[in-house]
Amino acid sequence: MPNVLVTGAQWGDEGKGKIVDHLAARADLSVRFGGGANAGHTLVVGGKKIVLHLVPAGILHPRCKGLVGNGCVIDPASFVKEIAELRAADIEVSEKRLSISDRCHVVTTFQKISDGITGKAIGTTGRGIGPAYTDKVRRAGVRLADVLEGTHLPLLAAQREHYAKLHVGTDLPSEKAVADELAAVVRELAPYIGDVAEETHRAMKDNRAILFEGAQGALLDVDHGTYPFVTSSTTTAGGASSGVGVYVDLHKRVAVLKAYTTRVGNGPFPTELFDETGEKIRAIGHEFGATTGRPRRCGWLDLPALRHAFRLNGVTDMAITKLDVLAGFDTIRVATEHRAGTPVYRDFEGFGSLEGITARDALPAAVTKYLAFLEAELDAKVSILSLGPDRDRTLVFREILGA
Ligand code: IMP
Repeated sequence: MPNVLVTGAQWGDEGKGKIVDHLAARADLSVRFGGGANAGHTLVVGGKKIVLHLVPAGILHPRCKGLVGNGCVIDPASFVKEIAELRAADIEVSEKRLSISDRCHVVTTFQKISDGITGKAIGTTGRGIGPAYTDKVRRAGVRLADVLEGTHLPLLAAQREHYAKLHVGTDLPSEKAVADELAAVVRELAPYIGDVAEETHRAMKDNRAILFEGAQGALLDVDHGTYPFVTSSTTTAGGASSGVGVYVDLHKRVAVLKAYTTRVGNGPFPTELFDETGEKIRAIGHEFGATTGRPRRCGWLDLPALRHAFRLNGVTDMAITKLDVLAGFDTIRVATEHRAGTPVYRDFEGFGSLEGITARDALPAAVTKYLAFLEAELDAKVSILSLGPDRDRTLVFREILGA
C-alpha cells in the first residue's frame, strides 16, 4: 500500500486538512511529522466546523488512526483541549485512535512567553513554536518522556534561567508551577504516548496505507522557505522520515495549493494584491487565520514559487483548492516569472459559478484551460479539485489512494 504525502505548496493554509480528510477515508494511519499548534486545519463535517491544530486530521475517520511523530512540538494543554473538542463533536478519541511520540518536545510556558515577545518581527502565531525548536536544537528542551519520567523540573529551571536573562523584567512563573502543571496535563495524555516510529514501521511492514500529513507550507520551511520569515521546522517531504523516526518511501506526493496565494505573518510575497481584488479574495475566501484569526494577505498564483515547492517535494499529484472563490472574476492572473523581483503575469479568462458541478467535463472551458496550463507548467496532474468547504465539494479526477 502506498505511503502518501499531503503537503502545502505555498505559505500554509492551502486547505490540506480537507484533502487529508478526503484521503483518510481510505487510509489506516495519518501521521503528523512536524510543526505544532501553529497549524490550523479547519474542516466542515456534517455542517459542523472543526478546527484541528496538532491532532492529525485523519482522526475524523473511524478506520484511520492519528499519529504525532517526534518532529512535532506539543503544547499538552492545547492538545488536551483539542481532544475535548473532538469528543464534544462525537468523535471517538482513544488509544486505539491516537498515538503521540514520547520524543516530542513540549512547548513550555516560558517558550510561549518568549514567542510573544520575539515573534513579532516575523509575525509568528505566538504558540511558542520557534523557541521550542530553538531549545530543542540548543539541547535545552523538555520531551514528553522527561515529563513522564518526572525528570523535567531541573530542565525547566534551566529554561527559566535562560529566558529570565533573555527577557529581563518580564514576569515568569516559577519552574515548580510550570512543572506541576505540565505533569498534570501530560498525565492525561499518558495513554496515548508511545513509540510512534515503531508503530509506523510495523504498519509499513503490514502493508498499511499511510498518510503523511504536512503542516504549514513549502515556503515556510526553515531551510527552503522565505528565510527568516519561516516557521522553525521542515515542512517539506524531507521532514517525513526524521519527523517520524523511520525511513519513509513516499510513493505519492500530493501538493495542495489554492487557486490563488495567501500568507499570514510578515515576509516577501511578490504577487500580493493591495487593491480591491485582494480584499475581494479575502472576503469571499474567508481568508482569516484558523489559529490566530489574523487577516491573510492575498495575491495571485506564483508559478516560480510553486516550481520551487514542487521540486522540493517531488510532487506527483496536485490538489487545487478554493477555485470557487475566483468564480465571477473577469480575469484570473498567474505569475509565470519574476523579472528583477517583479512578477510577470499571464491573464486567464474568468468563469461563472461552479456550484453544482461534480465532474471534470462539466467545468467551464475557461477552468479547463487554466487547469491544463498549470498541469503543463508544473509537470503534475490535478487529481483533486476542491470547490467548497463541504466534503461533497471535492471533485476527484484521479484516485490517489485505494484506486
Ligand atoms: P510560527 O510557526 O508560529 O513560528 O510562525 C512563523 C511563520 O509561519 C509566521 O509567518 C506564521 O504566520 C507562519 N505560520 C505558521 N504556521 C502556519 C500555518 O499553519 N499556516 C500559515 N502560516 C503559518
